[in-house]
Amino acid sequence: MRKRWLTLCLLLALLGPLAARAELPRVGVGAYSGRDTFITSLVGQIRERGQGRLDLHIVYAQGDQNRQNDQVLQMIEDGVDVLMVNPVDRVSAVYLIALAQQHGLPLILFNREPLREDLAAYDRAYYVGIDPRRQGELQGELAAAYFRAHPEQDLNGDGIIQYVLLRGEPGHQDAELRSLFSLRAMTAQGLRTQKLAEETAYWEKGLGQERMAMLLNVYGHRVELVIANNDDMALGAIDALKAAGYFAGAQTIPVIGVDATAPAMEAIAQGALYGTVENDAAQQAQAVVELAALLAAGNAPTADNFPFPMTDRVVYIPSRPVTQ
Ligand code: BGC
Repeated sequence: MRKRWLTLCLLLALLGPLAARAELPRVGVGAYSGRDTFITSLVGQIRERGQGRLDLHIVYAQGDQNRQNDQVLQMIEDGVDVLMVNPVDRVSAVYLIALAQQHGLPLILFNREPLREDLAAYDRAYYVGIDPRRQGELQGELAAAYFRAHPEQDLNGDGIIQYVLLRGEPGHQDAELRSLFSLRAMTAQGLRTQKLAEETAYWEKGLGQERMAMLLNVYGHRVELVIANNDDMALGAIDALKAAGYFAGAQTIPVIGVDATAPAMEAIAQGALYGTVENDAAQQAQAVVELAALLAAGNAPTADNFPFPMTDRVVYIPSRPVTQ
């Protein structure tokens, strides 16, 4: 009798955690790439914050929208309760939204913002990200503050700041709007500027370095400011600037990025990166996890049960500037 009781206890102890795990909502997570510094950090935070609350199944699309579409179809076939997707191409999110609707599944898009009319078409589709206009403005304000404090960095003394812009992926809302609004804010702050050139470096550090090296060849010391749509490209630019002799002695130049990734924070501490704008991965992860838990339980988010501001099923996590 005692033996049978022990066996039963053992069985329960073994099955307990399995049963608890099986009860967690199944969430399929599709990220556009596994090689993007910011996305890697964001997905890591989602994994951490989802622990014990969501049963996450994470896949990466390697920058291929067709591959991602197949991955999402597979998630649906596997019986997930919620879809969470960082689309490869924000315009193609319309297909993912239609697919989710067709299967009656809630869909949380993140980081790559769908067109508003596409999101509006399905009342269980949501977007979690940041406001790229505000991030651009904060970049512009950082630049203006820098030159107010360092007028001597207007190297040719013409009262106009000559700058170069490193852009992220074309068509990505963060690349387009950060570019536009950083310039607007510099002007609004009374900083006179002249864009010497802009180069697309697709969010990548290696390309940022290449493009910056090329720009230095063409413009040399005429460049007085570098604005990059993200930190990885800013850090690539810093590598090129270092190779050209900057940051060793007195020769310096302000470089401004976005994200506040770990390597960027290090570069700020070392005095190479002047500033960045936080792209708060922790809060974005928290928002998608909270939202997935609610949706999986069949609840709609409200001001009472969801602690993030939401308008038209869009959640923007606030951003703040970071310097030394
Ligand atoms: C980030 C970039 C990242 C991109 C990926 C942006 O919000 O600032 O670092 O490469 O998202 O979609």
